[in-house]
Amino acid sequence: MDLPDCNDFFENSQKPDNFDSVRCAVEDFVKKHIDQDRNIVLVTSGGTTVPLESQTVRFIDNFSIGTRGATSAEYFLSSNYAVIFLHRKGSLKPFQRHFQHINFLDILLASGDDVIVQGDQKSRVHSILSQYDHVKSSELLLLVEFTTLGEYLYNLRAAAQILRSAQKRAMLYLAAAVSDFYIPAGQLPKHKIQSSDGALTISLQLVPKMLRPLVSSWVPNAFVTSFKLETDPLLLVPKAKQALKTYKHQVVIGNLLERRKFEVVIVTQDVERWFHLTEVEQKTGVEIESRLIDILTEMHNQFMEPA
Ligand code: PMT
Repeated sequence: MDLPDCNDFFENSQKPDNFDSVRCAVEDFVKKHIDQDRNIVLVTSGGTTVPLESQTVRFIDNFSIGTRGATSAEYFLSSNYAVIFLHRKGSLKPFQRHFQHINFLDILLASGDDVIVQGDQKSRVHSILSQYDHVKSSELLLLVEFTTLGEYLYNLRAAAQILRSAQKRAMLYLAAAVSDFYIPAGQLPKHKIQSSDGALTISLQLVPKMLRPLVSSWVPNAFVTSFKLETDPLLLVPKAKQALKTYKHQVVIGNLLERRKFEVVIVTQDVERWFHLTEVEQKTGVEIESRLIDILTEMHNQFMEPA
């Protein structure tokens, strides 16, 4: 099978409208945190869309809502990393995710000129706000959005290339669910596809695996963690190992669609290490990302030690 070429992908895809301003923001952010000797992680999160029309009415999407990415970003922040959070527009975000299912009208109370938080939510809201205030005042979090596959890959490439200057202090944590198939811009119908034309057959091209240039040329000295998502348990570890062998990066985190919230496997060149949350841990709100980020920050520290 002929592997598709990364340069062809970029030549055949449209740059995001806000590309230059995103690039400037990432450059400023990275420079500031390099000057402060801080580790910087690029966390990708959420799913990419694949447009079926150039004035897009319909698109292909996937299941990811960004829980893994948003949760992990918070644990990186509490480990004092600066975080570039490249996420799908409208998906979960660090800190905000805690309020996703809360109706503020039910927990806030007008009291004179003030607004107060009622009942048992108060200490939780206080703790999240305190963490968020620290992150905001220290400018530790940069949010960058994407919707389409093209926007994601353009921003990923730019951010990775900028992170090159952070050398080994840079980590990439590629948790976004990225489409493997797309329609090149030049082959997209301009207008809405008409149902009066009958049943629709769509032909999708393979998206090149961006891990290859990312590891070998965009950000060659960084610590790179990719993810492997499977639905068949028998494929998970072999495919994770295969990815390490092919792209020669540091870590693959494997997860199965149905078990991803409470079971992951960390695969490196030497080790395969499983993490499970017990039922009690799941019920008491332990998040598997806390374990993952502990181990990854430790591995990153070892990676940064002089040889
Ligand atoms: O958002 P949640 O609901 O919490 O779900 C989290 C998650 C299951 C999406 C996450 O934990 C996860 O597994 N993300 C990666 C999903 C994925 O794209 O897996 P994959 O096996 O298709 O790709 C493997 C790796 O190749 C990924 O790190 C991806 O960044 C990379 N890739 C993918 C496509 C592509 N064209 N180029 C790539 O480099």
